[in-house]
Amino acid sequence: MSYEKISFLHLPTPMEYLPNISSDLGRDFYIKRDDLTSLGMGGNKLRKLEYLMKEALDRGATAVITVGGAQTNHGRLTAAVAAKLGLKCSICVVDPWPGELTGNMLLSRIMGAEIVLQAPDGRSESDQIAELISKTRDKYTAQGEIVYEIPVGGSTFIGALGYYDCALEIDDQKKAFDLKNVRLLCGVGSIGTYMGLYLGLKACDSDIKLTGIAISPFAEMKEKRIMEYAEEANRKLDKSWKITREDFDIEVGYTRGAYNNVSAEVRDALCHMARREAIILDPCYTGKAYAGIRDMVKEGKIKPDETIIFLHTGGQPGIYTTHHRAAFEKDLVAGVHIL
Ligand SMILES: Cc1ncc(COP(=O)(O)O)c(C=O)c1O
Repeated sequence: MSYEKISFLHLPTPMEYLPNISSDLGRDFYIKRDDLTSLGMGGNKLRKLEYLMKEALDRGATAVITVGGAQTNHGRLTAAVAAKLGLKCSICVVDPWPGELTGNMLLSRIMGAEIVLQAPDGRSESDQIAELISKTRDKYTAQGEIVYEIPVGGSTFIGALGYYDCALEIDDQKKAFDLKNVRLLCGVGSIGTYMGLYLGLKACDSDIKLTGIAISPFAEMKEKRIMEYAEEANRKLDKSWKITREDFDIEVGYTRGAYNNVSAEVRDALCHMARREAIILDPCYTGKAYAGIRDMVKEGKIKPDETIIFLHTGGQPGIYTTHHRAAFEKDLVAGVHIL
């Protein structure tokens, strides 16, 4: 592959066997620890940013602008990499002000990024975001900065290459562990992680099956985007792969209704992983994906002879956001014994 990146991670990330979860689910269960990528408390966006920031620096950028929800992990990790590389960083958000500076927002500010937030005002979200980006770009340009823009989730073709690499890494680790009948599962948000994995597994002719678990309703726009990625990959990687929508295995039935909502089943799944393996998931992405895996096992969609590799994509600061923290407190405060 002829694309270059800036390396700032300690790769490969570990892949670990989880004996207690394997025993509980009746399937061999491994976890790929992409939550342990260094910088800014880690997570999947860093692999994407290794490629995106190379492009930014090649274009002479001195400032980056990205977008996301109020509690964007991607924003936090863009802030992290910008801090490391000495770039200015703004995160544009269309969301109500949550009333306090918590979770990812707090971490982004600690790392020096600005957050430009506006409550939804009835226009389409994309129009509002475009306006915020344009105002922020104008401000930076007037200050003499050279701006590089990163779309939501860093999910461009270039960003997805970070997960192309990760797929090669996972295929190597699978071979080193001598695993058979492997299914790799990951949460799907803006699709870049899934698409990168898909392309990487295809490129190395891996026999690993890939299943994505949508963490928010899988709208028509994403259906379209996934096929655009496939076409772009053929063009930019100089391949002539025949890829159809049927090649993408994405479970859309475990979204629990909405993006980043509180869900008792997700909290239960998160506590299960924490209490059995001391691994902390997050309530928006990985907890929801793991809750989906537990359902798929119960429903027999993941067969007993399959070996699971679950990609931990990070996101734990989400636990400390106002609505998730309050829901956990309600469940768990009874175990605090104030004497
Ligand atoms: C912690 C975490 N996991 C998974 C995802 C989903 O990745 P993608 O947007 O590439 O589908 C995200 C995206 O924001 C994330 O922050």
